Amino acid sequence: MLVSGSGTNLQALIDRAGSEAGYGIAVVISDRADVRALERARQAGIPAVVVDWDGDRRSFTTRVCAAAADAGAQALVLAGFMRILGPEAMVRFPDRILNIHPSLLPAFPGRTPVADTLEHGVRVTGVTVHLVDERVDHGPIVAQEAVEVDPDDTEFSLHQRLHEVEHRLYPQAVSALAQGRLKVDGRRVVWL
Ligand code: GRF
Repeated sequence: MLVSGSGTNLQALIDRAGSEAGYGIAVVISDRADVRALERARQAGIPAVVVDWDGDRRSFTTRVCAAAADAGAQALVLAGFMRILGPEAMVRFPDRILNIHPSLLPAFPGRTPVADTLEHGVRVTGVTVHLVDERVDHGPIVAQEAVEVDPDDTEFSLHQRLHEVEHRLYPQAVSALAQGRLKVDGRRVVWL
């Protein structure tokens, strides 16, 4: 797992991991040392590793991939990870890097999707789980679920409802990937 923040998605994935779900979490990797997500990992007995951002995407990506591979990880699962991985990661983990984003991509990619959603005045938004490719918030879509925007939503209240969906959707997608139930056909992902 790759994280940079609070790690509520990490927690949802920890809570559902096991033989029935078909996945385990080998290591939690963060680019920042002082984040709640690393504490969650330690509390769950999962190795927590910090890989410092050194200003060079290629060397950073290589070190992240090495830390994951050394721990026996077979896929990278990003949740609130605020760094962009270089193409070396996609070579090392082909069709095995997942990300979750709180909008219905391709609407509102980037760092402030929930604020952008409210500012644009859309009535329906949602959550997207996608495979990571070389472009930000762009790879083939694995799962999406809609969430209605209420007229009096704040960024906080809307993100809270999006989080609830994320915490249900992400473990399902990670299980499907781990169990070999995702078939990638160009931009389309078929659930087997
Ligand atoms: C989530 O909303 C995720 O979609 C986005 O960043 C947020 C991370 O939240 N990429 P958390 O750290 O899992 O609580």
